[in-house]
Amino acid sequence: MKDDLLTMLWEIIRRRHPRSVRGVEEARAVCPERFDRVAGRMLGWLVGTGGDVEKAVDAFATYSTEVNLAQARYEADGQYQHRSFDEVYADHYSRRDRMDDYLWAVFLSNILWAHHTEISLFFRDRFLEKRCQEPFSTEAAELVEIAPGHGGWGTWALDVLPHATLRGFDISPSSIDIARSLSAAAGHADRTSYIEQDALDLDQMPGESADALICCFLAEHLEKPGRLFAVIEHLLRPGAPAFVTAALTAAQVDHIYEFRRESELVQLCEDHGMRVLETLCAAPRRTLPKARFLPRSMALIVQKRHNDLS
Ligand SMILES: C[S@@+](CC[C@H](N)C(=O)[O-])C[C@H]1O[C@@H](n2cnc3c(N)ncnc32)[C@H](O)[C@@H]1O
Repeated sequence: MKDDLLTMLWEIIRRRHPRSVRGVEEARAVCPERFDRVAGRMLGWLVGTGGDVEKAVDAFATYSTEVNLAQARYEADGQYQHRSFDEVYADHYSRRDRMDDYLWAVFLSNILWAHHTEISLFFRDRFLEKRCQEPFSTEAAELVEIAPGHGGWGTWALDVLPHATLRGFDISPSSIDIARSLSAAAGHADRTSYIEQDALDLDQMPGESADALICCFLAEHLEKPGRLFAVIEHLLRPGAPAFVTAALTAAQVDHIYEFRRESELVQLCEDHGMRVLETLCAAPRRTLPKARFLPRSMALIVQKRHNDLS
């Protein structure tokens, strides 16, 4: 089944999107055996939701082209297209016709873009394996995911952590539906709940309840990302780990906050009661010639401090 799906993936890319072949080959070259295993598993979940691989790959190719165009526009303008969250909500998050394709495209990009393959393997090796085994060695430990989108990160976490339960919060109704169906396809429906909610309101929830937290690619979508880091700190138990990612100088239609330096993200964590344990910053293999901006994705594994001095 997994091999059939991988064969189908390559056949669709070669036949319908020959210009994407090189990029996906670069992603596989990061670690061919692990790429095949992870991509096969993700495609299995996609098919399990009733999703169509060809449609998802088409969405991925369109999204990749749009990302490249947005980056070229950003090079010329020196700033991201949108500044306001309300604009992006109205044009994007609230619109199912856009969000469904977008979310499947983002889901695939987490393994089909080489620099995101690196981030995904870092998530598995350094966060799930190294930081989460101990907190999730007992029953009833809780993982929180902020902005799950398609739900792929949390679903992967539940695969690796058999005792974990997960609560996910996303502002988009499409995300809630897709994340629920993905989790069900992976056999984890009884361990997940997904709720439509603005992440920035989560400071109203009881604090210090999360044994670990995932928040991937949300910070750059916000006008004031500092509020997100305050929420993460509020939700984590002292000593608990979190996996946080963000895009830097990487334009997309829904990116608002322009992170320019990796140190800005480290500083946000440190200013909000968290210690940075490990980081990985990765860039696409090929970028615009003589570009001013190098698009990067950064992952941080952080830990809530027990007190200000620890
Ligand atoms: C780029 S997607 C990331 C999806 C997934 N976490 C990933 O890394 O592949 C951004 C997600 O953030 C969600 N989002 C944007 N603003 C939000 C907010 N204020 N509160 C909760 N979710 C939000 C969007 O609905 C979307 O699902």
